[in-house]
Amino acid sequence: MSELGSLVQSADYKSEKHVPVIECPEKVKAGEFFEVKASLGKEIAHPNTTEHFIAWIDLFFHPDGEKYAYEVGRFEFKGHGESTKGANEGPVYCNPNVTASVKLTTSGKFHALALCNIHGLWESSKTIVVE
Ligand code: FE2
Repeated sequence: MSELGSLVQSADYKSEKHVPVIECPEKVKAGEFFEVKASLGKEIAHPNTTEHFIAWIDLFFHPDGEKYAYEVGRFEFKGHGESTKGANEGPVYCNPNVTASVKLTTSGKFHALALCNIHGLWESSKTIVVE
C-alpha cells in the first residue's frame, strides 16, 4: 500500500462514526439515472462544531476490470458554526450528507473518501451491478 493509502482508515459504519456510508440501488439499468447518496452519521452522529467537523466527501466509481477509478463528485462542507461572535455561534451548520444523480454503462464499485479535520481520512465502498 502507498504511503497515503496507509493513512486511509476503514471500519464498520455502525460502530465508527467517521466511516462514509454509500447508499444506492443494488442493480441499475445501463444509461438510466439513479441517485447515489454519500453521508456520515447514519448510525452514530459525528460532531459538527467549529473545532471538529467533516470537511469533505469525495465519491469515485471504479468500473469492473479497469485500472483506474473515476471521480463522481467532491462535496465540501463549509458551515461549522463559524461567526464573528465566536466559535459555534454562527448560523450555519452543514450535515455531511449529499446525493448525486448518476448513470453508468458498466458494473463496478463506488468508493467514498471522507476527511475529518481532526481524525483524518476514512473510506468505504459499495458494489453496484449494471444490467
Ligand atoms: Fe472526527
